Amino acid sequence: MQKEVTLITGDGIGPEITVSVKKIFEAAGVPVAWEEVNAGMTALEKGEELIPQTLIESVKRNKVALKGPITTPVGKGFKSVNVQLRHMFDLYQNIRPCKSTPGINSKFDDVDTVLFRENTEGLYAGLELYDDRLEMADSIARVTKKGSLRIVRAAFEYARNFDRKKVTLVHKANILKWIGKIFLDAGEEISKEYPDIEMNDRIIDNMCMQLVLRPRDYDVIVTTNLFGDILSDLCAGLVGGLGLVAGANVGDEIAIFEAVHGSAPDIAGQNKANPTALIRSAILMLKHLKMNNFAEQIDNAMNKTLANPQHCTADLGGPLGTTEFTQTVIDNLN
Ligand code: NAI
Repeated sequence: MQKEVTLITGDGIGPEITVSVKKIFEAAGVPVAWEEVNAGMTALEKGEELIPQTLIESVKRNKVALKGPITTPVGKGFKSVNVQLRHMFDLYQNIRPCKSTPGINSKFDDVDTVLFRENTEGLYAGLELYDDRLEMADSIARVTKKGSLRIVRAAFEYARNFDRKKVTLVHKANILKWIGKIFLDAGEEISKEYPDIEMNDRIIDNMCMQLVLRPRDYDVIVTTNLFGDILSDLCAGLVGGLGLVAGANVGDEIAIFEAVHGSAPDIAGQNKANPTALIRSAILMLKHLKMNNFAEQIDNAMNKTLANPQHCTADLGGPLGTTEFTQTVIDNLN
């Protein structure tokens, strides 16, 4: 029985790296049937909307999607496709696991954190006003009790399910009094339901420094939208960069998995893209679908491939192109 999954191929390097995932899934015999749809620039060029109705219907039907990076045209009044998708499907959890990979050159070799970023509120709620006369702009960060409780609960639930010991809440309650209070109160309330898991909190600026100095001290991290956006790239930098890090946008009904990086127009169509981040996002998707054996098999093949610098793509200092890297991962499947 095959599971239908929506595949948003995306822009720039999107088509190349989604082909990698498709080839690896086929070679491993993963029982997934892809329903391919367009979005972003590719959709506009084909005369469709930035987010076509076919995409919306497909995601609603399948409940699970894998998404390549999307280019949002800048300065033409378009809202970010990514932000719209998160709001449209209420994907309130943005989950980014950052773990050191043996063989990959990075500052630390023992990082293993999972970041939970609130994905629908804060400064990304879309509440922006511009006063032409005063030449002044207001951006309103909206944080709700309901939104804080559900993201904090998701982080604690993850910690319990994956045998993690500690959840760190990140905030700026010393300055942002109300937003900080709502978020910290949510932490206090939820943590009572999880006495087996330690909770602590850090102010965002201190957290940045702590992560750069002692990342191993951090296990599960949960924070509001903007702080999460920044911390997730910081954490990616700790383990070798954006090309390696997977992401998941998860709601109660629907989940969309995507690489953390963008559409990399500078290398698009040149067989230079590293598909690792999207392949790892697809591995997260397999775990979400409870296809753990396939997830483990592909994860092992990825780690075996990345452990050999001669089997890496150019961004990691290796000699392989996207196609050759993909074939090496397939050769390493067992
Ligand atoms: P980017 O992540 O696309 O590229 C930054 C740099 O990293 C570039 O030099 C690029 O070549 C390199 N790079 C990125 N991914 C790579 C990969 N898999 N393999 C090898 N090298 C890689 O960020 P940038 O340039 O700021 O954004 C380009 C476009 O992507 C923009 O239109 C932006 O809006 C969009 N974007 C989309 C995202 C998404 O769909 N989730 C996330 C971030 C940006």
